[in-house]
Amino acid sequence: MCGREGPRRGWGRCAPSPLLLLSLLASAAPLALLGEETRQLFEFDGANTSEATQPPGDPYPPYSLAKFSWNNITDSLDPATLSATFRGHPTDDPAGAFANGSLAFRVQAFPGSGRPAQPPRLLHSADTCQLEVALVGASPRGNRSLFGLEVATLGQGPACPLMQEQRSIDDEYAPAVFQLDQLLWGSLPSGFVQWRPVAFSQSQRGRESALPCRAAPPHFASAHLPQSPIVRAFFESHNNFCAFNLTFGASTGPGYWDAHYLSWSMLLGVGTPPVDALSPLVLGIMVAALGAPGLVLLAGGLFLLLGHRRWSEYQPIN
Ligand SMILES: *[C@@H]1O[C@H](CO)[C@@H](O)[C@H](O)[C@H]1NC(C)=O
Ligand SMILES: *[C@@H]1O[C@H](CO)[C@@H](O)[C@H](O)[C@H]1NC(C)=O
Ligand SMILES: *[C@@H]1O[C@H](CO)[C@@H](O)[C@H](O)[C@H]1NC(C)=O
Ligand SMILES: *[C@@H]1O[C@H](CO)[C@@H](O)[C@H](O)[C@H]1NC(C)=O
Ligand SMILES: *[C@@H]1O[C@H](CO)[C@@H](O)[C@H](O)[C@H]1NC(C)=O
Repeated sequence: MCGREGPRRGWGRCAPSPLLLLSLLASAAPLALLGEETRQLFEFDGANTSEATQPPGDPYPPYSLAKFSWNNITDSLDPATLSATFRGHPTDDPAGAFANGSLAFRVQAFPGSGRPAQPPRLLHSADTCQLEVALVGASPRGNRSLFGLEVATLGQGPACPLMQEQRSIDDEYAPAVFQLDQLLWGSLPSGFVQWRPVAFSQSQRGRESALPCRAAPPHFASAHLPQSPIVRAFFESHNNFCAFNLTFGASTGPGYWDAHYLSWSMLLGVGTPPVDALSPLVLGIMVAALGAPGLVLLAGGLFLLLGHRRWSEYQPIN
């Protein structure tokens, strides 16, 4: 059960190995995203709505993920990439919306730290797993359909995990996205979920296919632990569940209608969330824009900032 790479924060000497994290996530995914009667895939008619409205249009009847049939996860386990894919479609689909389509959840663990090749390229470590959601090929019920997802998580004591937005000046790894959203569970070994508020409407992910992703804060929800022994062993003591809604896209700009494709990803982990340093590109731009005197000032500023951080015990600075 212990990782090979020695001590890690949060879990002490016995950090879970990437493979354990993967199997945990693969068996917990049914709890988080599949199976429960309250977990749903939403579809909205976004034809006549403005950017800010929530929900983003008139809702069509949601697809309950409890009424999906899923592939046998064992067949899609790939030890080489430490990944597995759940692929499903509604069992009852009279309109044939999913005749050529599916909703897929791909989980991937990582042997070490790095970044995936595709945006949003969140920094990951061996203590994290990526979960990628893709809706591909399903027929939308309107010309301007927007989609959403209800996600369930474990609560923490009497509260739901805290949703937090972080701004950054750096968009090198996720074009035009200057924000990182996260859910934080407080006590140690703490857990976290991180994502960039961006989804993509083409498998070739780039600025042209980037859609906004909006998240509402979690609320308490009813759910039951899945039967999986490994999930029960880890989460038996938890008896409260929270759920939150995500919506993808806006009525203008790129959308699912372009290619009948939507993908979004998040990072789940234990311990302290990985923190992005400024990318070399942004540092380079700063050097070019500010010149050496500016850089010295910046370095001084960073020094003060880090000093301040230490004094304020790493309180977030806005
Ligand atoms: C959109 O809104 C306009 C004005 O509010 C209305 O005339 C039009 O019928 C609406 N279209 C749809 C498809 O609801
Ligand atoms: C999934 O497939 C594996 C082998 O491919 C098999 O042993 C297992 O029973 C299958 N599980 C289900 C639920 O069909
Ligand atoms: C599914 O694909 C087949 C073959 O490409 C096509 O004939 C059919 O119309 C498609 N069905 C839907 C609902 O898109
Ligand atoms: C979708 O667009 C087509 C062509 O613009 C139009 O004929 C059709 O009525 C639209 N369908 C809906 C559901 O709005
Ligand atoms: C998510 O949105 C749907 C429909 O808009 C709503 O019925 C549901 O209660 C929401 N879930 C949460 C956890 O807010």
